[in-house]
Amino acid sequence: MTKGKASAPAKVILFGEHFVVYGNPAILASINRRIAVNARTTSENSVVIRSDIGVAGEYSDSGFRTIEGGMKAKTTLDPLHSAIRQVLSARGKKTGIEIDVTSTVPPGIGLGSSAAACVATVAAVNSLFQKKPSRQRICEMAIESERTVHRNSSGADCYVSTFGGLIHYSRTKFKKVQTKGPLALVIASTGVRHSTGDLVTGVKKFKDRNESLFEGMAGQAAGFCAQAQVAMASGRHDRVGELMNENQAILRQLGVSHYKADDLIDICAKAGALGSKITGAGGGGAVIALAASKQDSAKIASRVKAAGYESFEVEIDRKGLAA
Ligand code: PMV
Repeated sequence: MTKGKASAPAKVILFGEHFVVYGNPAILASINRRIAVNARTTSENSVVIRSDIGVAGEYSDSGFRTIEGGMKAKTTLDPLHSAIRQVLSARGKKTGIEIDVTSTVPPGIGLGSSAAACVATVAAVNSLFQKKPSRQRICEMAIESERTVHRNSSGADCYVSTFGGLIHYSRTKFKKVQTKGPLALVIASTGVRHSTGDLVTGVKKFKDRNESLFEGMAGQAAGFCAQAQVAMASGRHDRVGELMNENQAILRQLGVSHYKADDLIDICAKAGALGSKITGAGGGGAVIALAASKQDSAKIASRVKAAGYESFEVEIDRKGLAA
């Protein structure tokens, strides 16, 4: 038996989600919450995937068998199975594989847990064969795997998880964004899990019905990305916060906010946030708030918790994939 492992960070989207699917820019950051994958070869003719989020399953010639997690197991595990199959095929290997996924990232709320799991799986399974492909190649395979459940993925999540840091992303091209002073960020979760694919489909319907309105909104979101980079570079975090609020107004118009997200945004604003918005696909999910200082972010997180929601402070991860 050979063993391998890798880990990759979750992410937040500060600006531009949804519009990024149509080639517009987004600003994302990887965060200090990770998904780790331990992989080993087995003598079985199957792929077994176990995750500590309560899902497990086995893929063999006779199809898929749920080990844990009921109906949702297959949808959650399919991208990871695809990642494993891609690596086996690229390496010309036929061995059985088992992976264990451990996560410190709440799933299904827009923090990119699925992308991070795909990135870490591709790297961990490659390491079983003493291979270390380029990060670019790992990222491409992870995007391909993600597309088994979210066909129109922009790829942004996999890029930020693989390369780490704060990035400006557009059409598979990215550049690092400079900040003057650390960004004090807080995540607040509605506790409502979403399906990225369904929300992206809903936005497509909105776009098809309101073509020129959508173009205008996408242009505004692109403008926020440009202005936010300038504000971040000059340490104008107050301005970054304002832009986040403006971005949220557009997301609300797009129909991807949620009454619980709106409640959280209100709580964050009253607790002194410079700005806040949904992060990721929306429809529930998580809210990201920017604070003026670490002290303020701690206060925001504790107010959110006092209101009965899950909340935690996050820092930007600079490492990306660790393999
Ligand atoms: O909610 P998440 O973590 O799946 O993020 C989705 C981000 C979108 O822009 C809505 C979709 C995409 O492919 O970029």
